[in-house]
Amino acid sequence: MKQVHRHVIRMGKSRFPVLILGETGTGKEVVARAIHNVESRGPFVVVDCASLVAPLMESELFGYAKGAFTGAHNQKLGLLDAANGGTAFFDEIGDLPLDMQMKLLRVLQEKEFRAVGSLSQRASNFRVIAATNRDLAADVEAKRFRQDLYYRLNVMRLRLGPLRERKQDISALVLHFLERYGNGHKLSDEVVDALEGYDWPGNVRELEHTIQRMVAMNSGPFLSKGDLPSTVINHSLERQFEAHANGTESPGRTVGLPSTSHGQNILPLAEVEKRAILAALEYTRGDRTLAAAMLDIGRTTLYRKLKEYGL
Ligand SMILES: Nc1ncnc2c1ncn2[C@@H]1O[C@H](COP(=O)(O)OP(=O)(O)OP(=O)(O)O)[C@@H](O)[C@H]1O
Ligand SMILES: [Mg+2]
Repeated sequence: MKQVHRHVIRMGKSRFPVLILGETGTGKEVVARAIHNVESRGPFVVVDCASLVAPLMESELFGYAKGAFTGAHNQKLGLLDAANGGTAFFDEIGDLPLDMQMKLLRVLQEKEFRAVGSLSQRASNFRVIAATNRDLAADVEAKRFRQDLYYRLNVMRLRLGPLRERKQDISALVLHFLERYGNGHKLSDEVVDALEGYDWPGNVRELEHTIQRMVAMNSGPFLSKGDLPSTVINHSLERQFEAHANGTESPGRTVGLPSTSHGQNILPLAEVEKRAILAALEYTRGDRTLAAAMLDIGRTTLYRKLKEYGL
């Protein structure tokens, strides 16, 4: 992260386009905002290329003129107008359809565009930051992404490594999230070891959610290995078994017995159920219908259990 930070400062001081690459949850948007904030000139506008639906995309980006289509009673400014003087962040740029890629390229070249249904050109001056979790170079090769647009975006490039390749960042991130979400919660070294050992396919976002959930389910202050989600625990056990099998385990580590079978980690079944319900509600931000679906129980059953446990 320190290395990334240095690049962020350098890139923030220039106005050239930046292309940010990285798996999901590695912090591409965090970094894009950080680059913008170095000089923080004007607005930071997110253009989510993955969620823009094709027929609406043009009017979302460029706006439309009064009377451009049925229902266009007034003119509307697009996202690119909104970004004037600031930064336009093209998120998931790799998902932009080819015809829109061409239109975007023209805008980037000319800094001018026409609103839908309008004859006159409008100017907007914005800095371009784009991000994607796809292998854009491969997409160019496969003709799914325009090479000319790729060259235009790829002036400065920042690649955010997956968390499993920068495990040194984990303990700092954990501290940061504990400070943000915790209530004086503390983790034992054993827990941090397990967190560092896990591969985090969802990267920083998954780590953040894990800490949030652990903190929400336990009033603390000490969180132990038993508070870790089973995905992390199982992974850590697998590694211990592997190390044992290869004879590479570190001395002094208990190997063989799953830590969940240490008596202290066995919970009354009702407690397990209660925690599962809390975790589901936490994850769905209180959406009970969704939580019930995740728990694979009916909504009424969930209501009954909430009452039963006084939740
Ligand atoms: N270096 C970091 N410090 C603190 N929080 C971070 C950091 N990197 C990522 N996060 C957090 O992780 C989560 C995911 O980050 P972000 O949305 O930037 O990822 P992303 O790469 O854009 O993911 P996606 O490809 O899924 O859109 C966010 O909640 C963000 O706050
Ligand atoms: Mg993102």
